[in-house]
Amino acid sequence: MPIPFVEPFRIKVVEPIKQTTRAERESALAGAYNNLFGVPAEDVLIDFLTDSGTNALSDRQWSAMMAGDESYAGSRSFAHFESAVQDILGFPHVLPTHQGRGAEGILFKTLVQPGQFVPNNRHFDTTQGNLLALGAHPVDLAVPEASDPDRDLPFKGNMDLGKLEAFITGTGAENIPIGMLTVTNNSAAGQPVSMANIKATAALYHRYGIPFFFDACRFAENAWFIKTREPGYADRSVAEIALEMFSYADGCTMSAKKDAIVNIGGFIACRNEDLKLKLAEHLIVREGFPTYGGLAGRDLEAVAVGLYEGIAEDYLAYRERHTAYLGEVLRSAGMSVYLPTGGHAVYVDAGRTLPHIPVSQFPGVALANMLYLEGGVRTVEIGSLMFAHPDPITREVVNAPNELVRFAIPRRVYTRSHLDYVGEVARAVMKKADEIRGLKVTWAPELLRHFMARLDWV
Ligand code: F0G
Repeated sequence: MPIPFVEPFRIKVVEPIKQTTRAERESALAGAYNNLFGVPAEDVLIDFLTDSGTNALSDRQWSAMMAGDESYAGSRSFAHFESAVQDILGFPHVLPTHQGRGAEGILFKTLVQPGQFVPNNRHFDTTQGNLLALGAHPVDLAVPEASDPDRDLPFKGNMDLGKLEAFITGTGAENIPIGMLTVTNNSAAGQPVSMANIKATAALYHRYGIPFFFDACRFAENAWFIKTREPGYADRSVAEIALEMFSYADGCTMSAKKDAIVNIGGFIACRNEDLKLKLAEHLIVREGFPTYGGLAGRDLEAVAVGLYEGIAEDYLAYRERHTAYLGEVLRSAGMSVYLPTGGHAVYVDAGRTLPHIPVSQFPGVALANMLYLEGGVRTVEIGSLMFAHPDPITREVVNAPNELVRFAIPRRVYTRSHLDYVGEVARAVMKKADEIRGLKVTWAPELLRHFMARLDWV
């Protein structure tokens, strides 16, 4: 058998993980009101809850961190951070934030008024939450194939340009203070957006005078997919492709916890100096002085190095293969895997894997909980517990387009044998799939309910 891939690193530091008994897992899950966000991480063997901030740092990042400059204003570490962002993304102005949602909160507070609309291919939970908290309306306009788990197409994260134009003309550009595009499209199974679609989305926003910002968390994986899937880009480097992507935008928000391969950090970047000054006013009140923005100097150093490691092509080639391999393992275990697999995660269609559980009883949560009980594998539902919301006009509850379970893969953390173990756990769950029950919510906060909801088995 050919070797599927080789990790382009060797392991210098290890962190023990612990196998628990089924009884211990049952008690941990019950103690968490059947919500995996509440389970202590020590009771998890393989943690695919998120790829965010769960990455392994490199020796170069650790050594840069030791040289972190912790000055309040004008630190050397900020200069390193700023120059890496300018070099890789091409935006002249950079404001650090503690993580992605800090950047979103400040950008939206500065630009968005209550009652206004913000289009995106798909908002992720915190971008949606930040807008709803302001009394604004997040609008998702991804291409229809984004919700089709079977069509193996290269760019299912794309914006639906026809729907976007109809939305802008119908709503009035004056009610749309900013337009977004999320790369890769995390709520649509981590699917990439093509360069052609980025260009056309930017042109459409700009034709109507709407500033265009990327939600850039996973821009490096998106650039890799452009290189390997879009005609005309095979001979361009990922660094060149990333620069071209950002060249069409007015700015971006970024959670560095993803493709900058760190444990904490984020930023807002933009071209316009006046906007930067307005953003900085909000930043100082909420996050910190503009040269640290809620981060330690050592965190800024880790991002400065990690941004370059995140666009390294041997790493990205391995990352794609590693994720695809988990997809193959889960498919052979009998799960309905969304195709193609994304960059950072494999998404299983729980609605189709457990067709006897109605959407109102959260098949994604049921499947995720069973994977945990069976083998200590933690995943996350990306379905109607996370995304069901009232329609801004009719107030009727709109469910998520698919009931997915996401296996998000921390960067440089798990080896192939960890993935094979997860495959065995999935196989054992699928043997008893017919017996899996759904869940009901017994308590939940209004906003971002999936993080803290309490549930009971039906
Ligand atoms: N945008 C996208 C597309 C994201 O995936 C996330 C976070 C954020 C913004 C917010 O960034 O966590 O640094 O505040 N996603 C994580 C996840 C939490 O699990 O997908 P943050």
